[in-house]
Amino acid sequence: MVRNGAGSGEIIIRPAASSEAMRMWEIDQICFDPDIAYPIDFIYYHLLVLRDPAFCAWDGQTMIGFVLTSLEKRGEGCIVTIDILEPYRRRGLGSRLIGMAERALAERGARKIVLQAAVENESAIAFYGKHGYLRGRLLKNYYGKKKDAWRYQKMPK
Ligand SMILES: CC(C)(COP(=O)(O)OP(=O)(O)OC[C@H]1O[C@@H](n2cnc3c(N)ncnc32)[C@H](O)[C@@H]1OP(=O)(O)O)[C@@H](O)C(=O)NCCC(=O)NCCS
Repeated sequence: MVRNGAGSGEIIIRPAASSEAMRMWEIDQICFDPDIAYPIDFIYYHLLVLRDPAFCAWDGQTMIGFVLTSLEKRGEGCIVTIDILEPYRRRGLGSRLIGMAERALAERGARKIVLQAAVENESAIAFYGKHGYLRGRLLKNYYGKKKDAWRYQKMPK
């Protein structure tokens, strides 16, 4: 368990439980347009079936952010999504979450971590750049018609 004193209360980060999928879905719906946000089944599938590592940030009894990962193929992990509710951004929570996700993926054998970010998502692009992710190829129409994404990758230490 990781504690972060940022904000008015103490923010706690802990591994996600499958029973928390609904709240993770709600946060994803808030953070993204409905046509980009993941369906609830997708989150359950990662947590319950694949048992992929995920971590949630809590302000008291309220989940205020999470990161969801997956092991895409042998030796390659993925940051599926990382979502922090707007009032809690720029306090280092995303950095803590992605750090925990990267360590969990490395422990599962990931030698490379990949992810996608919408080309217009300036916050995410700055965030991943700060965390050492290198921009790769452009994925045309990745999120739908005329909704392109950049692919990023990083070799964890
Ligand atoms: C991207 C996101 C997860 C970052 O979370 P966060 O908790 O705000 O990130 P941190 O506070 O750890 O930021 C770490 C660094 O990333 C960079 N960064 C993060 N947000 C930024 C922004 N809006 N503009 C510029 N740089 C930014 C900065 O270098 C920052 O360090 P600094 O605050 O000391 O300058 C958050 O903005 C978010 O949830 N966005 C909506 C969902 C989303 O787009 N997720 C990514 C999916 S691809």
